Amino acid sequence: MAQIVAAVTTSHVPSIGMAIDTGITQDPYWKPLFDGYLPAKEFVKQLAPDITIVVYNDHGLEVFLDRVPTFGVGAAAEYRSGDEGWGPRPIPPFKGDPDFSWHLIEHLVAQEFDVTMFQELSVDHGFTVPMSVFFGGAAGEVDEWPTRVVPITVNTIQFPLPLAARCFKLGQAIRRAVDAYPKDARVMIVGTGGMSHQLQGERAGFMQPEFDRQFLKKMVDDPIALTRISNGVYMKEAGHEGAELIMWLVARGAMNMQVREVYQHYHVSASLTAAGLACYVDA
Ligand code: DHB
Ligand code: FE
Repeated sequence: MAQIVAAVTTSHVPSIGMAIDTGITQDPYWKPLFDGYLPAKEFVKQLAPDITIVVYNDHGLEVFLDRVPTFGVGAAAEYRSGDEGWGPRPIPPFKGDPDFSWHLIEHLVAQEFDVTMFQELSVDHGFTVPMSVFFGGAAGEVDEWPTRVVPITVNTIQFPLPLAARCFKLGQAIRRAVDAYPKDARVMIVGTGGMSHQLQGERAGFMQPEFDRQFLKKMVDDPIALTRISNGVYMKEAGHEGAELIMWLVARGAMNMQVREVYQHYHVSASLTAAGLACYVDA
């Protein structure tokens, strides 16, 4: 039987990937961030998930504004880093698990989540940076990713975005689908994006540590309160791209109501983003 063994969450700033790929993680600007990632990497190493579900938003690589699925699930045998303008990242391809993906898709549709099915999908920083944060190392350290992956996309780009409550329910539906998978598999779910940040407009550079701290606390002890926050309020309080935090709620929804936070790290800033990370197991 498959089971979800942990949920982990992290920001997905592109320059975090650049810092890994160019070997500058120990530079003074980056060192505090990467030092903070070490316990999370150790946690994931010990956990050794067979399958990792990565909940992320495509930022215009595969999904452009003319066609935007609210939710999508990858069903490919392999996913490669796409070219977001600087060339594909120098990382190995990610192995998929089509059997598990189709099982997820069937069970999500049966639970009234009518997801888009991606039989081909290249992945952007929203996916690759969290994978590097939790599984990667210095440039070139990873020859092969130690887990199979399933990308799940969430629209956080084009209005209207799915509600936070809907994202949490998607996580609950993913949990039921995983529990119903007949083969043995240890599954980790990753929620990506956030925390507070805004990339454009008059408030570019906006960050809100107090909001983020409250969010981190409620992820543990009152996630339902976070599902009641409207996307407009997420954007006002955490910056426009801070609304990416709804993807953390997909991961949280896949866990028990009671969780234990194994590790948390928060660092202001990585690029324009207040970079948060947390690891949770069922209590
Ligand atoms: C940055 C953050 C993001 O979430 C993103 O998708 C792109 C850039 C940044 O802070 O640079
Ligand atoms: Fe983003």
